[in-house]
Amino acid sequence: MEKPLIYITRKIPNDVIKPYESNFQFKMWTSEDTPVPRDILLQEAKRADGLLCMLSDQIDEELLYQAPQLKVVANLAVGYDNIDLLAAEKQSVVVTNTPDVLTETTADLTFALLLATARRLIEAYEFIKDDQWEHWSPYLLAGADVHQQTIGIVGMGRIGEAVARRATGFGMSILYHNRTRKLETEKELNTTYVSFDELVRTSDFVVSLVPLTDATEHLFNESVFKQMKSSAIFINVSRGQTVDEEALYNALKTGEIAAAGLDVFKDEPISSNHPLMNLDNVVCLPHIGSASRKTREEMLHLCLRNLEGYFVGDGPLTPVRFIK
Ligand code: NAP
Ligand code: GLV
Ligand code: GLV
Repeated sequence: MEKPLIYITRKIPNDVIKPYESNFQFKMWTSEDTPVPRDILLQEAKRADGLLCMLSDQIDEELLYQAPQLKVVANLAVGYDNIDLLAAEKQSVVVTNTPDVLTETTADLTFALLLATARRLIEAYEFIKDDQWEHWSPYLLAGADVHQQTIGIVGMGRIGEAVARRATGFGMSILYHNRTRKLETEKELNTTYVSFDELVRTSDFVVSLVPLTDATEHLFNESVFKQMKSSAIFINVSRGQTVDEEALYNALKTGEIAAAGLDVFKDEPISSNHPLMNLDNVVCLPHIGSASRKTREEMLHLCLRNLEGYFVGDGPLTPVRFIK
């Protein structure tokens, strides 16, 4: 029997795929940095038995309905809002993601972004770079404290909990909101469950770690920013579409909230003239939450093990469940 053909939508190191070559034929897009053009992706998907894809690839109805052989889509991300799960279900295509292996790395980045925003690290660096450091003075680049403040985590899942553990070390009070209460987590991490409204009203740091779904699209909108403290700092490491970016811009510009740290945006990539890039009280990152070398390698291996699990094992390790 022919080995299943897996199309990888980005160039990845040969030594990562080597151990899997006894089970698969691989074909990959030729570039490490630039995405596969849509027409080539559609063409390759038509012949592939499996796809290993990036969060920036749209795996939609159009692609899924034109891919007769396709059995599995292994997404190199824990979020899977780039994949039409209903269309996949209808076409009997299994979807997998990469939970757990990226949790701690993404929590590190979330905390780094929170600290950088509160203590104005990027502004401070630019200050020296622009040769503005002429004197030391008491309020020079004075920011907000992190320790002993209240952090409100919206989406207390795997990454939310890992952020809460870090917040404990900073002596922070931890509030959270989910659709379901987590009594174990409350006990173990000394966190308090509150309504969404109470969380946004009372937190010094509002941190979004929810998946993008119909229910979370524009969860953070004008009326929510209005409820936040004027000293509040908003951190988003989930997905850009959970935020009404125009409302966020206005809230930051008019001082309704103090600052924001953003790893994700509605339309990625953003450019240097994006309105949010032109505010001093915003730290923007190019969606690098899970970007440590070790974690990226583990994510790739999990994708490949998911494909192996489906084609030659007892099933994929981390399938995404379709919930109507
Ligand atoms: P997870 O374990 O599934 O956690 C998500 C949490 O969100 C769950 O606790 C869930 O609880 C809650 N939630 C879902 N819908 C909600 C709603 N409508 N209102 C309030 N809470 C809701 O996922 P994870 O592994 O922590 O990852 C979370 C997200 O982070 C991913 O989906 C991805 O979008 C993002 N992410 C970004 C990066 C990056 O590079 N920036 C890296 C990794 C992950 P309930 O179901 O009880 O509501
Ligand atoms: C990254 O954004 C992920 O969802 O893994
Ligand atoms: C600051 O550098 C201090 O010594 O307080």
